[in-house]
Amino acid sequence: MKNIVLIGFMGTGKTSTGRSLAQRLGFSFLDLDQKIEAEAGMSIPEMFERHGEAYFRAREREMVARVAKRRNTVISTGGGTVKSQENMEALRAGGVVVCLQADVDTILQRTMTQGQRPVLDGRDAGDRRKAIEQLMQERAQLYTHADYTVDTSELSPLQVVDDIVRFL
Ligand code: S3P
Repeated sequence: MKNIVLIGFMGTGKTSTGRSLAQRLGFSFLDLDQKIEAEAGMSIPEMFERHGEAYFRAREREMVARVAKRRNTVISTGGGTVKSQENMEALRAGGVVVCLQADVDTILQRTMTQGQRPVLDGRDAGDRRKAIEQLMQERAQLYTHADYTVDTSELSPLQVVDDIVRFL
């Protein structure tokens, strides 16, 4: 079967939903960011700091080209994976694309409390909200390139999984 590819902004639950969805479907699970970190032997914040965002995006493109060829895999992408048309073409060719969404408050809260986000870090809450709103606006069009979209703001990861399974 084709892959299920989860796209969406930071903090929309791609990793936790992806893991549960893979379990439910009996698919393998692959988190793009985690795989990039494992192969590079450094965290993504460290990679941004040492080599810059362009370097990370190049690693991301290489990884997408490889993993898009898999089958029966739920692939959780990073929030910015959609910025590359090449990435999206490869992922769409091998999979069904599901976009997870959430409102700004939910994203603000989740990204403050869960993990580091180099594209947002180093700002106080007010500035971070503005940065989220701006990035969401810049990327809004890119997140529409999905076969199905779920708003996760009010849902638990398991409810999101139920919703996606109903769509599939
Ligand atoms: C990014 C999102 C992150 C990660 C990197 C850049 C982005 O993934 O790929 O920090 O540009 O939106 P998550 O969406 O899993 O936080």
